[in-house]
Amino acid sequence: MRPILEARDLTKTYRAGDGEVRALQGISLAVEPGEFVAFMGPSGSGKTTLLQLLGGLDRPTSGEVVLEGVTISSMHDDEATRLRRDKTGFVFQAFNLVPLLSARENVALPFLLAGSGPGDPDVRARVDDALRLVDLDAKADRRPSELAFGEQQRVAIARAIAGRPAILFADEPTGNLDYATGIEILEYLYRSCAERGQTVVLVTHDAQAGAYADRVLFLRDGRVLEEIGLGRRSEHPARPLIERLALLGQ
Ligand SMILES: Nc1ncnc2c1ncn2[C@@H]1O[C@H](COP(=O)(O)OP(=O)(O)OP(=O)(O)O)[C@@H](O)[C@H]1O
Ligand SMILES: [Mg+2]
Repeated sequence: MRPILEARDLTKTYRAGDGEVRALQGISLAVEPGEFVAFMGPSGSGKTTLLQLLGGLDRPTSGEVVLEGVTISSMHDDEATRLRRDKTGFVFQAFNLVPLLSARENVALPFLLAGSGPGDPDVRARVDDALRLVDLDAKADRRPSELAFGEQQRVAIARAIAGRPAILFADEPTGNLDYATGIEILEYLYRSCAERGQTVVLVTHDAQAGAYADRVLFLRDGRVLEEIGLGRRSEHPARPLIERLALLGQ
């Protein structure tokens, strides 16, 4: 099977004042369609930088990012923006919902911004389907302030997957949540993968969260230090990953 996403010898150097930070120092990887991959590693190891390059939010200093066979890292800005809108979904630590809009309107917003009419039945069906996946169909008319934090992040997940992106990227999606709510969010990300075949790339500090992935890439100093294959979550416990990470000093 052709990988859905590939990185080829990616480097990223940030200029910072007079100096520079070599955030990524040669990363190559491939993600298969329907796979759930997690990036872990200490603070500053380059996880967010890698996610931004893979999702086309920033450009590498050298190397290539290939999404569904298309090299996105060398695209012009507006071409890259279009591809990102069509092919990727993002969930961040901050939920980034529009306060004045209901949950349903927040999920529909990307479609409206892309030019669909509010009454478009296809949009409506996709929005409702995404809200159902995160079990929020009964609360679709509530505004973010009328929802718990975990529910707000579930709206953000619904918004990210409603357009059926090739890849869903999530950068520390549980960072603002208490432990139990964080696990709930992981369950929904996992569900999008297990039930929908959604390809998911997750960045996390938390071994319990990483254990939802099929495979963990452990980064240090801008390189992949170790790859830990786990297999499907439903078929393995979290413990072996937690023990392996402990050996890596996590
Ligand atoms: N815009 C930037 N300008 C300069 N340096 C940056 C920039 N973004 C990140 N860096 C540096 O690049 C390195 C990698 O940062 P990155 O944010 O990718 O790490 P991370 O693994 O996501 O860390 P964390 O776990 O704290 O989120 C760090 O040394 C960071 O200080
Ligand atoms: Mg980060």
